Amino acid sequence: MSYQLTYTTDLRWAQSALANLGILLNDHAILEKKAAVVAIDMMKYFPKSPKTLCRLSKLAREEMRHFELVTQFVEQNSYDQIQMKPVSYMRNLFSLVDSANRTQALRDRLLIASIIEARAHERFDCLIPLLNGKLAAFYTKLSHAEKRHQDIYFTLCLELVGESKTLDRLSELLDEERRILLATQDRFGFFSCV
Ligand SMILES: [Fe+2]
Ligand SMILES: [Fe+2]
Repeated sequence: MSYQLTYTTDLRWAQSALANLGILLNDHAILEKKAAVVAIDMMKYFPKSPKTLCRLSKLAREEMRHFELVTQFVEQNSYDQIQMKPVSYMRNLFSLVDSANRTQALRDRLLIASIIEARAHERFDCLIPLLNGKLAAFYTKLSHAEKRHQDIYFTLCLELVGESKTLDRLSELLDEERRILLATQDRFGFFSCV
């Protein structure tokens, strides 16, 4: 079982990405590292489930492997290594966690993590047709992995609270994600509006 995002990336974002490939790649590297941190942090909510702990550990390792590959790509293709702060998109999404009780908070964390992976997958798929061979092949590989990560977090949420509570909250969070993404206009980035 999976789902679609409610907002499709504007082609103007892809045009900005092509004009700012160095920024895109550096920003992307930071986000892979953040995705690993999200997966490691999630492990503390599943202390009694070795199967889930191993799944999340593997996911975190994959994200760090993506970080290494992007960092190497930047170096091998003579892009500048740029120190930058991520745009506010992920922070704003995680601020939506409803901490009224533990289960609701974990449900939200899992859904938000899943939506971020879904957006990464969607952004890669938006860019791939416009990229040259080497970067297109690299991003195609990553896109499949992010789709898989989307489904892992989503499945954990389904297992935690069941289908109807998952889908009700998912629908609210997808609307919020659209609103947050459209408002992320501080600078161009992997998760900026355009
Ligand atoms: Fe990744
Ligand atoms: Fe991922």
